[in-house]
Amino acid sequence: IRQLVKQRRPLGFPPGPSPIPVIGNIMSLATEPHVFMKKQSEIHGQIFSLDLGGYSAVVLNGYDAIRECLYHQGDVFSDRPSLPLFMKMTKMGGLLNAKFGNGWIEHRQLASNSFRYFGSIQKPLDQKILEECMFFVDAIDEHKGKPFNPKHLVTNAVSNITNLIIFGERFTYDNCDFQHMIEIFSENVELAVSGWAFLYNAFPWIEYLPFGKHQKLFRNAAKVYNFLEQIIKRFSEGRVSNFPRHYIDEYLNKLDKSAGDLGTSYSRENLIYSVGELIIAGTETTTNTLRWAMLYMALYPNIQEKVHKELDSVLGSGQSPSLADKKRMPYVEAVLHEVLRFCNIVPLGIFRATTQDTLVSGYNIPKGTMVITNLYSVHFDEKYWCDPGTFSPHRFLDSNGNFVRREAFLPFSLGKRHCLGEHLARMEMFLFFTTMLQRFHLQFPSGTVPSLTPKLGMTLQPLPYSICAVRRQQ
Ligand code: HEM
Repeated sequence: IRQLVKQRRPLGFPPGPSPIPVIGNIMSLATEPHVFMKKQSEIHGQIFSLDLGGYSAVVLNGYDAIRECLYHQGDVFSDRPSLPLFMKMTKMGGLLNAKFGNGWIEHRQLASNSFRYFGSIQKPLDQKILEECMFFVDAIDEHKGKPFNPKHLVTNAVSNITNLIIFGERFTYDNCDFQHMIEIFSENVELAVSGWAFLYNAFPWIEYLPFGKHQKLFRNAAKVYNFLEQIIKRFSEGRVSNFPRHYIDEYLNKLDKSAGDLGTSYSRENLIYSVGELIIAGTETTTNTLRWAMLYMALYPNIQEKVHKELDSVLGSGQSPSLADKKRMPYVEAVLHEVLRFCNIVPLGIFRATTQDTLVSGYNIPKGTMVITNLYSVHFDEKYWCDPGTFSPHRFLDSNGNFVRREAFLPFSLGKRHCLGEHLARMEMFLFFTTMLQRFHLQFPSGTVPSLTPKLGMTLQPLPYSICAVRRQQ
């Protein structure tokens, strides 16, 4: 086996920890893979390799290595790896997992145009987000300051913003079918980096084993796609080709126009994949950020007090926050940035692959190599951050209290495949966070402090916790 693994690594391939026969380094990824990888980079260097059971992946650590590859060699590091799991899930089509090429360009452009256009159809997007914020804080108010788990409420509110763009409407917070779909979809985000998923990628024949978490992943995916197919059908009823109402209409227009064109990537199947990817990429990440932000506000009442002070001085009690206020709220900006840095919502980014043979820092990396971007290691890079293990919004402020951008801050990654929803996510986080904290004081039920240990998956989320949102006296 060793021989076989070696054969797959060309001369000059980055070194890495010794693999166990057959399964390579897969077992080391079971607990906190991003932390394990950062530790390994201290031994083997910022660029090292892992054996994932017969195939190799290159891991990029620290800001310098990630910038070197994702930015300076942008075209080379912009593919997605053709792993058996991804092939089975989306056949490397759709948007997020699409191979770097025409299909990806068509879907990325269509999505980003739709965000711009359907986001602000009828009224500006920030106003629509604010309307959702009102539903959100009113729903929180129903708990009357008593302990509740905010997970479902945050998920529903956040997913409604992408729903507006994709389906042209919001879903009420009691829509159980939609909630169930999101729930099993996010379970898959967790399962996608489980040991079983890595094993499936190394040994696809385990598909035929009747047990294992990968089976759950396949069952969930089938249910999600089935649900999406039906909902897409429902929302495309009454479509008039020159008057698209939302992303689905626009996609179907493109599909009609490209009929007979052999080179097109638009298809019914890719519509389902891209809708699913936009829903989950938009919901899971922003929801987790807001859930961590709530948790840290309750954990650090002194930081929360400063947020309240800034909100009161900029808005007073009656006025709702708006995007225009962002510039006048450097402390809120600093807090949200520190949550993104410290909590590492997508700790390993989304796996990349090389489009051609390349040379980086003296290492040979062949075409098609899977590349893992350890974004956590950027946010904990001692070269750029002082005392990175401390939660401190002040690192984003200068001595006059102005907000300062920091270079080694990459929660949305970098380069050609960087997050498509960054702009939208920033708007949502600011408006949801400020609307919520303007109305409430957040605290844990007396005598409790929740765990800060994240639940592992493609994204990091807090374990379920209870919190009290007590109306503020203004
Ligand atoms: C990709 C983070 C919100 C849509 C990504 C990537 C990261 C990321 C790290 C991987 C990029 C890479 O390959 O290196 C985040 C964070 C968010 C967020 C931290 C919120 C706090 C959103 C939202 C949407 C979205 C709101 C849209 C509704 C996407 C898409 C991709 C992506 C479509 C794939 C891009 C491509 O392959 O070309 N995001 N994201 N994200 N994100 Fe986000």
